[in-house]
Amino acid sequence: MLFDPRPKERREEMFDREKELNAILRGMRDYPITLLIGIRRVGKSSLLKAALNEYQGIGLYLDARRIYAAGSGNISPSVLAGELQRIVLGRGRFGFLRGISVERINLAGIQFKPKNPTPMDVLEFLNELGERTGKKVVIAFDEAQYLRFYGSKGGKDLLAGIAYAYDSLPNLSFVFTGSEVGLLHDFLGIEDYSSPLYGRIYEEVEVKPFSRELSEAFLRQGFEEIGIDVSEDEIKRAVNELDGIPGWLVEFGFNYWKKGEFESALEGTLAKARTMIKEELLELEKRSPRYSLILQAVAMGLSRWSMIRNYIEAKSGPITNARLATLLKNLEKMGWIKKENDEYRIIDPVVEKILRG
Ligand SMILES: Nc1ncnc2c1ncn2[C@@H]1O[C@H](COP(=O)(O)OP(=O)(O)O)[C@@H](O)[C@H]1O
Ligand SMILES: [Mg+2]
Repeated sequence: MLFDPRPKERREEMFDREKELNAILRGMRDYPITLLIGIRRVGKSSLLKAALNEYQGIGLYLDARRIYAAGSGNISPSVLAGELQRIVLGRGRFGFLRGISVERINLAGIQFKPKNPTPMDVLEFLNELGERTGKKVVIAFDEAQYLRFYGSKGGKDLLAGIAYAYDSLPNLSFVFTGSEVGLLHDFLGIEDYSSPLYGRIYEEVEVKPFSRELSEAFLRQGFEEIGIDVSEDEIKRAVNELDGIPGWLVEFGFNYWKKGEFESALEGTLAKARTMIKEELLELEKRSPRYSLILQAVAMGLSRWSMIRNYIEAKSGPITNARLATLLKNLEKMGWIKKENDEYRIIDPVVEKILRG
């Protein structure tokens, strides 16, 4: 059902996205590293899960953001190893050893050697598993920019392990998704001379919001599925308000279904959006309290540097150009804003509306 608010897990459940899904599957097959990027709620996790479900080898799904949130400000090597092990042993809800039982692993004569394996031990194990079973192993990290909190060196140790796997463990490959696209690129450092992954070849798949036509078609199909008659006019108005981000369209459809009427469905959607975005802003504010102020300024249409600076200074005192430049750059890297012709804009129109209050 299209309006089911959980991430989709199979191709049949998804609207459109054939091209992206096939590109990810090709990436998994042909590249040691595949990146799946796009803004929040555009459908990355759904695509990743659907791809892992169809993948012919062994697919393992890890949510880096969840692993990070479960810890206290970082991801420890033992927690990551434990998480991998848990999934490998088949107790994970998703991405466990598909199509291959623990008995068969044991039959293949391999076991986790150490009592307290490191992530590297697990990678070695998985590579061997791949070799013995003839199934390539894909390790997929959702919201992988959070892996920069692995260990104490900005995730460098883990990157070194992944670089080692890239060069020496032919039965492994990796997928990384990221809503904070710039942060993900920074973390992986494929263009960064000092990064362990410098210069490696990878596949990148970008997930974009739906076009206006597709967004309308999405809503039409969703309403048809649940047998509700909604006028073309309302469908058009919904897309005007919400744009083409599937997460918001699903929320709207779901609300319409519950409330049976346009205005309260829209209201419900924005209320839900407000809750979600507030949480994300809280997380941002932990990094710097000025992020929210900048976003507010941009949302109100203060699109130029000097306007933003004036607003920040009026609200919270002096800020240097260098500091403001860093904060704006970070907001770009985190997928909140974009810069065009020296003007800043909020990327997601729903986020913009909420920020305007
Ligand atoms: N192609 C699609 N068809 C139907 N629903 C989708 C599609 N893409 C995303 N969704 C829905 O949108 C919401 C956000 O999707 P999700 O995969 O969690 O996005 P992301 O991981 O990019 O934040 C979920 O409710 C999901 O079910
Ligand atoms: Mg996701």
